[in-house]
Amino acid sequence: MTTNSYFDAFRERFHIPIGTIYLDGNSLGVLPKATAARVADTVEREWGNDLIRSWNSADWINTPTRVGDKYARLMGANAGEVAACDTTSINVFKAILTALELQKNTKRNTNTPRNVLISDIDNFPTDLYIAQGLKALLAERNLDLRFVKREQMSETIDAAGDRLALVMLTEVDYRTGERYDMKRVTAHVQSKGALMLWDLAHSLCAFPVALNDCNVDLAVGCGYKYVNGGPGAPAFIFVAKRHLDRLDAMNSPAPISGWFAHEAPFAFQPEFKTIRGIKRFSVGTPPILQMAALETALEMWLTADLNAVREQSLRLTDDFIRRVEWHCRDYPLLTLATPREHERRGSQVSFRHPEGYAIMQALIARNVIGDFRAPDILRFGFTPLYLSEADVVNAAQHLAEILATREWDQPEFKMKHAVT
Ligand SMILES: Cc1ncc(COP(=O)(O)O)c(C=O)c1O
Repeated sequence: MTTNSYFDAFRERFHIPIGTIYLDGNSLGVLPKATAARVADTVEREWGNDLIRSWNSADWINTPTRVGDKYARLMGANAGEVAACDTTSINVFKAILTALELQKNTKRNTNTPRNVLISDIDNFPTDLYIAQGLKALLAERNLDLRFVKREQMSETIDAAGDRLALVMLTEVDYRTGERYDMKRVTAHVQSKGALMLWDLAHSLCAFPVALNDCNVDLAVGCGYKYVNGGPGAPAFIFVAKRHLDRLDAMNSPAPISGWFAHEAPFAFQPEFKTIRGIKRFSVGTPPILQMAALETALEMWLTADLNAVREQSLRLTDDFIRRVEWHCRDYPLLTLATPREHERRGSQVSFRHPEGYAIMQALIARNVIGDFRAPDILRFGFTPLYLSEADVVNAAQHLAEILATREWDQPEFKMKHAVT
């Protein structure tokens, strides 16, 4: 069991505006203090003074794999299995294409290739949108998309049988915080001869992730949430070594054939030839300033104990649920959306309320920052490295006061902003 001083010491390493209780690290993580200096150095010395030489002297050219290897250590993957690149949306595109490529020649009882892709209808929309876009783009492949409720997931996987190509799920539901059992679902999917793609947007740095231990095939996720890599931080894509080797053996083309996926980008040959290994998932020039911010955050995470973070996250979330339910017991419209069982939740707590948007705006006006997800979800992210037990006590108190006084019931809190 870790002491409070462990987390107090970490809190010192973040810039938290005075008077702010920040419960939105599941959407945009806060700024690590080391990041500002590192980015300034990248701007002033590497870019300003050293200019183009920095592609070699500062190793800018290898950032996707160097930073990818740091990502890998945080998700139970090996060096060479993760690339830091692009956005989660683009990486979903690459991951689905890769899964279809890997399934191209797998045997079924008939001659037609596996074409069923299953996802959760409550998955984050970008994942579902990318799958729909690929269905339109690959019309000849006749993709059969089956988006179903979580409760129907298991039977839908069974029903697809040997037509199942891929199951794509986000481990922790972005609205409710409900968590899938990664090991069990992955094994179930693989028992059908299909592949499993996990979106770890709400997992990485929220709790320990063990991709290889769960025998995961493919994964993607963001760098700007629990990771604290900064707004728009480069995302990641994980592909298990056994699949990277097969793709190489099959001479499969890169999913997006940009010059950074070419085997010799600086040979400037007109003909595209895919590079081997994880680099096949690079596309174009990496965003060096964003990479500097992300790498600083990853280096900080590599000094943290994710088991301790998980323990503390469960303590904080349990305490928040208990306090909110007690203080708000006279307001039955406020209901818990997150599972109470530890193994069934991530590191966020969500409540439903028909006036959730206005209530969240009233909280934000008090500097208690969470967010709102349509239609009625108040979302609170818990990040033990910079959130204290006192913050949790105070946040619950603020919420209770806002409900008791109907402080939320004002036109200014009902005005919808572009980002909620
Ligand atoms: C599960 C999940 N996937 C993907 C994304 C976003 O993807 P991108 O970084 O491409 O905007 C989010 C954003 O909140 C998310 O929650």
